[in-house]
Amino acid sequence: MKTMQMRRGISASFCFAIWMLAGMALANSAGPLDALTAAPGEGNCTQCHSSFTLNSGSGSLTITGIPQNYVPATSYVVTISLADPQASRWGFEFTILDDLGNSVGTLTPDDGNTQVTVGGAFNRTYAKHTSVGTQFGQPNGNSWDVNWTSPAEGTGNVTLYVAGNAANANFSTTGDFIYTNNFAMAEDVASAVPGAGPLASLHPAFPNPFNPRTQLSFTLAQSQSVSLGVYDVQGRLITTVYRGDLPAGTHSYTWRGQDQHGRPQPSGLYFGRLMNSAGQDLHRPIKMTLTK
Ligand code: HEC
Repeated sequence: MKTMQMRRGISASFCFAIWMLAGMALANSAGPLDALTAAPGEGNCTQCHSSFTLNSGSGSLTITGIPQNYVPATSYVVTISLADPQASRWGFEFTILDDLGNSVGTLTPDDGNTQVTVGGAFNRTYAKHTSVGTQFGQPNGNSWDVNWTSPAEGTGNVTLYVAGNAANANFSTTGDFIYTNNFAMAEDVASAVPGAGPLASLHPAFPNPFNPRTQLSFTLAQSQSVSLGVYDVQGRLITTVYRGDLPAGTHSYTWRGQDQHGRPQPSGLYFGRLMNSAGQDLHRPIKMTLTK
């Protein structure tokens, strides 16, 4: 009799371990997958937490701590608050993107309730809950703080996209209310250096992904001396595509997927950088993928 009970005990804990592992493999209550914030191109948590339609609950998902006009290169504490009278476990994910859909600024966790990951189809940066940050069993609502350092001058408009899960703490995807929200910010131009403004913009490479060549183009607001370089993911200069003085306007150059000695480069991710004569970036680097 005693042995029977023990055996049953072992098999129950064994099943529990398998079930825990399955949950961990999906990394859900321990932090959702990337790219679920309902930002352009992304899905949201109802892909799995599908009991109720999006934003049909009686709760709310709010974003505070960031202004409608952000000051470039400044630290903010973003607070995500999720409330729902029916829920007792909580999760979220957000990303902050420029108008081209690239992550901008730097996100860092404020405490053990949040984490930051990079991934998904667009290689964006995501802030999200940790396992302990779900506050299992806590009624009414929860909030999380994440540090965001805003991007450099000239980035322009940015938008925070967030999804939240007001869950019922049943360790599954059923019975949970999913919410989404977003918050648009403009760059505070008044705080910028007078007359600085965006002096140049570097456009996305075309085609991208490419093989064997792609076109790099940029627009200068005034005539100046620039260099357009291609770098690998380690930050090494592969080749300088153009260096010299140029008038204001749009200029295009071709990169043939070769280094400065004409050697073909391997498949992979590369960065195009537009710099002034002092080697300072005039725009955020652009990404391009060589696929053979
Ligand atoms: C690919 C499917 C999938 C997606 C998409 C997904 N989850 Fe989950 N989630 C799960 C599974 C499976 C569980 C149960 C296992 C566990 O607890 O890890 C779960 C559990 C949870 C729980 C605990 C639920 C409870 O009632 O105990 C929270 C909180 C949670 N997810 C948040 C999120 C958030 C926030 C998102 C969107 C940003 C999200 N999940 C997207 C699969 C998913």
